[in-house]
Amino acid sequence: MPFLISASILSADFAQLANQIHECEAGGVDWIHIDVMDGHFVPNLTMGPFIVETCKRITSLPLDCHLMIEKPENLIGAFVKSGANSITIHPENNPRVTDTLKQIKDSGCKCGLALNPSTPLDAVRSLLPILDLVLLMTVNPGYSGQGFMPEVVEKIVLMRKLVNDYPNISYIQVDGGINQSTIASVVKAGANCCVAATAIFKDSNNIAQNIKRLRIAAD
Ligand code: DX5
Ligand code: ZN
Repeated sequence: MPFLISASILSADFAQLANQIHECEAGGVDWIHIDVMDGHFVPNLTMGPFIVETCKRITSLPLDCHLMIEKPENLIGAFVKSGANSITIHPENNPRVTDTLKQIKDSGCKCGLALNPSTPLDAVRSLLPILDLVLLMTVNPGYSGQGFMPEVVEKIVLMRKLVNDYPNISYIQVDGGINQSTIASVVKAGANCCVAATAIFKDSNNIAQNIKRLRIAAD
């Protein structure tokens, strides 16, 4: 099973976005993570398809879009068109989650389901046959720079056991507070795709070095 690092550009310096994404490439990052927030599903307001299209022109790395928005079904087409490679949605307050996952899959993108820390694993069980990835949030979504929630580690262990019966699921992704001190615990629990914003863009001035340090700490 491959181990991936997905760099969340939420903590990037947008005045230097192209340079910083190129530094991520030099540091060996696997995916670029784009945190889409609508000011409703979460209080923060961030990026839309237009930033995905911008990233597509900067890099050939896969663009991993994490949608923290209400009614994601209305925007799947726009994200696909702008160049998303994977699209992950949340089940919380989303009555159309199954149809939307199918919509993502039919578009040719990888589809993912993200669970907030307090959302039980039951929310994902019936959807396991159609998913490519499962994202377990290790903070409450909305902002980068928050503290890792260690209580989610046990959920990762249980998720790994569940996923073993579903070869279609290539990745258990974790997102929130992942840094050199926390990454080993999630990897040991069974995560194989780690998202990081602060630890990559703000830990030191050297983005490539930050990524290498994360990878070493994960081993
Ligand atoms: C939080 C976002 C995360 C965030 C991670 O809602 O989904 O992707 O950017 O930031 P760090 O790594 O700083 O916790
Ligand atoms: Zn995210």
